[in-house]
Amino acid sequence: MGALHILWKLQLILCFTQFGKYYVSASDSVCDIKTKWRVDCYPETVPSVEQNCESRGCCYKPVMSNDNVPWCYYPSNYASYSLSKISNTSYGYTGLLNIQSPSPKHYGKEISWLSLDVIFERKDRLHFRLRDANNSRYEVPISTPIVKKAADYPFMYDLKLEHDKFGIIIKRKSSGTVLFNSTIAPLIYFDQFLQISTSLPSTNVYGLGERHEDLLIDTNWKRLKFWARDQPPHENANLYGDHPLYIAVEDDGNAHGVFLLNSNAKEIELQPAPALTWRMVGGIMDFYVLLGPTPEMVVQQYTSIIGKPFLPPYWSLGFHLCRWGYESSNNTWDIVKKMRAASIPQDVQWNDIDYMSKYLDFTYDPVAFDTLPNLVSDLHQNNQHYVMIIDPGISDTQSSGSYSAYDDGIATNIFINDSRTLKPIEGVVWPGKTVFPDFTHPAIDVYWEKQLRMYHSKVPFDGVWIDMNEPSNFVHGSTSSCPNNLYENPPYVPHVNGHSLADRTLCSSSKHFKYYHYDVHSLTGLFEMKATSKALINIRKKRPFIISRSTFPSAGLYGGHWSGDIVSTWHDLKQSIASLVNFNMFGVPLVGADICGFSGDTTEELCIRWMQLGSFYPFSRNHNALTSSGQAPVDFSQETQDIMRKTLNLRYSLLPYLYSLFFSAHATGGTVAKALFFEFPLDKIALKIDTQFMWGNALLISPVLEEKASSVRAYFPKGNWYYLTGVFGKPIKTEGEWINIDAPLSNIPLHIRGGCIIPSQYPAITTAESRRNPLSLLVAPDEFGIAKGELYWDDGDSLDTLESNLFMHVLFTLKDNKLTSHVVSALRDEELVLSKVIVMNVHTPITAVYVNNIRETFQIGEFNILQFGCSLNLSKSFHIKWQ
Ligand code: NOJ
Repeated sequence: MGALHILWKLQLILCFTQFGKYYVSASDSVCDIKTKWRVDCYPETVPSVEQNCESRGCCYKPVMSNDNVPWCYYPSNYASYSLSKISNTSYGYTGLLNIQSPSPKHYGKEISWLSLDVIFERKDRLHFRLRDANNSRYEVPISTPIVKKAADYPFMYDLKLEHDKFGIIIKRKSSGTVLFNSTIAPLIYFDQFLQISTSLPSTNVYGLGERHEDLLIDTNWKRLKFWARDQPPHENANLYGDHPLYIAVEDDGNAHGVFLLNSNAKEIELQPAPALTWRMVGGIMDFYVLLGPTPEMVVQQYTSIIGKPFLPPYWSLGFHLCRWGYESSNNTWDIVKKMRAASIPQDVQWNDIDYMSKYLDFTYDPVAFDTLPNLVSDLHQNNQHYVMIIDPGISDTQSSGSYSAYDDGIATNIFINDSRTLKPIEGVVWPGKTVFPDFTHPAIDVYWEKQLRMYHSKVPFDGVWIDMNEPSNFVHGSTSSCPNNLYENPPYVPHVNGHSLADRTLCSSSKHFKYYHYDVHSLTGLFEMKATSKALINIRKKRPFIISRSTFPSAGLYGGHWSGDIVSTWHDLKQSIASLVNFNMFGVPLVGADICGFSGDTTEELCIRWMQLGSFYPFSRNHNALTSSGQAPVDFSQETQDIMRKTLNLRYSLLPYLYSLFFSAHATGGTVAKALFFEFPLDKIALKIDTQFMWGNALLISPVLEEKASSVRAYFPKGNWYYLTGVFGKPIKTEGEWINIDAPLSNIPLHIRGGCIIPSQYPAITTAESRRNPLSLLVAPDEFGIAKGELYWDDGDSLDTLESNLFMHVLFTLKDNKLTSHVVSALRDEELVLSKVIVMNVHTPITAVYVNNIRETFQIGEFNILQFGCSLNLSKSFHIKWQ
């Protein structure tokens, strides 16, 4: 026994005599916890201070080998809550928890009595909530299902509640796998410090954002922080959005999700047990456990709580071009003209803050941007669209009566107030001193719509880019600092970047209409999206298009997201894949990163590779920082433009498939782009892959992510795959393997999965034009010669086409050399024609092809690709066979 250990034992005895009256003290046996199971009792610092640890009644054992292992941790007998009463209700259980013995008051006011609700909401969705039994507390004001009656048996889960030392244990009924077990550490519930731990069934943990990191979360003592922040993305930082959802894949390939509905500042500590600990500084514990069992089903179950994603307008799936620093409307226009002249697809032109007059929202610079209305009208005449940026900060320094965004806000008391003066809190953003609309205010919709409508009457924009809505503030808290109170300086501050909740944003004690900023800070982006969406619908009477920097669960109902100020580096090119599949898990499928990178100068090669990858971002926009060198396709050589045109044409040709995926996500709440493990959760290699991703279940995208590479080492999970780029139609049959795929600078490797059918369309330079072209079907049989696919279609821009049944939905099936369609829902006014079918890997020889019983000419190409023409109205079922 080392000296350190003896010293430690002595200290524990001291601790016992000093504090034993109040709580159970640490002794040798209760501290005998394996390192990987230690739950941090002193998360403030690493390493913790010995005396402080003891004063909390925790065990103190330094570990020299690994800096992140907590030295101060909870003993197994640490005081927690006991479940003193439990009764059945129509929805499940309700119970009462009482603190066993008061904890040392390190975190302020402890809540002695808690109420527990367990709601058996669906057979695949369990909900439990822990609240203060006697006082109401802040709860996240987003709408979630209110379930008053338990689902019918049987459930996919078993629930066990530990009474003496409260714990909740949730198992998957079919396998017995423990999905959630909070008995591994005490439950802690102070007014401003709430903590709960759970074991994890495996280390395959995903989600939890917003992060700029690898897809698979490191469970080796990793801490993640959640607090919306204007933070150029990098590893280990809390970024623009808050998404407290994880998906875990169990060892047998089943997947489940855990969602904590809480918007306060929080953090998660992951440890190798594997286990994790949630720590939050307010609100309630409001958990949902989602039983999957596939990752895709977990996302559907998640969006059944937070809402299914909106259906984007078809044009918004085209290519978007933007930069900060065009400097004038004519320069912006020049780029558009050059893109047209080069026949490079472009649907949307954007402007950043330089279009504004003195950076004032809802204005444009009358000199440099004098031709902006003409540019927008020219875009519209050419079937293109226009989107501009709006920031939440409203200047408060304009002369009275000259700036309605400020005057109207003052008149309706719409701004967030300083809690000391109950006058608008003032920060600094691009226009200088600004105040901030309270997007939780009941009158916000009227105010916000009025401003957008006035501007729209001058510049008829088609969508809005909402930036800086964490909200970002260039001064700490406010222009007159922040008061000293428990909102500003809570007993525990999660390890957020900047070490203070007010860093780069407003004082936490600022007053919203009903809330404190402390509670609703991370909801700013979501509520701005909501108000903007309503306004756009009222003004344009068409589908809204909104891209927001800050997001929270439910954001996908209103718009999409881009991953912010990434750098023009190969590293950030790669990390963009994890961010886009993460946001698909978060119910925000319309997501992309700044193609070619935001800050820093790109190289031509990097930008080519990024345009190739970005052609497969669900939201595809090239955007650039103020001082970075030009990176629009037309800023490069002819050869580069040719490659960029080619990759965008590829995107445009696949838009019917992409749109169908969006439609399906809107209808069923699933994903559009996804990580490989979503389709192959049993494949141990696929569980780790974040250098490739998929569109739906059919298209595998394996981009080049390294400089000077001319091939990609791509992973192909078990099955049949076919080249779509490179050697078109070449089959791959595999049990799961890494394969080197040629990827000269002109090509991004794309493969279609055997078993799938993809609708495609001849591309054009806008979606308005490509939508008029006939469709083709790409049919890729599996090993049994079977394939399936579907097409959703509508006019692409009207509101509520799903709800009004104004859409087409067709299912395609290949079986026994027969391709048939089943029309689930037909189009009324529009005719969409199928003019070509390509079937991979057919059994030859083929002597005849019959389309609806009429003989059709055909060709058989290399790799046994069958091709033939046809002219079929897709609203009518067809059958095609060959022999
Ligand atoms: C920050 C945004 O993230 C970036 O995309 C934008 O260009 C600048 N603000 C300027 O508006």
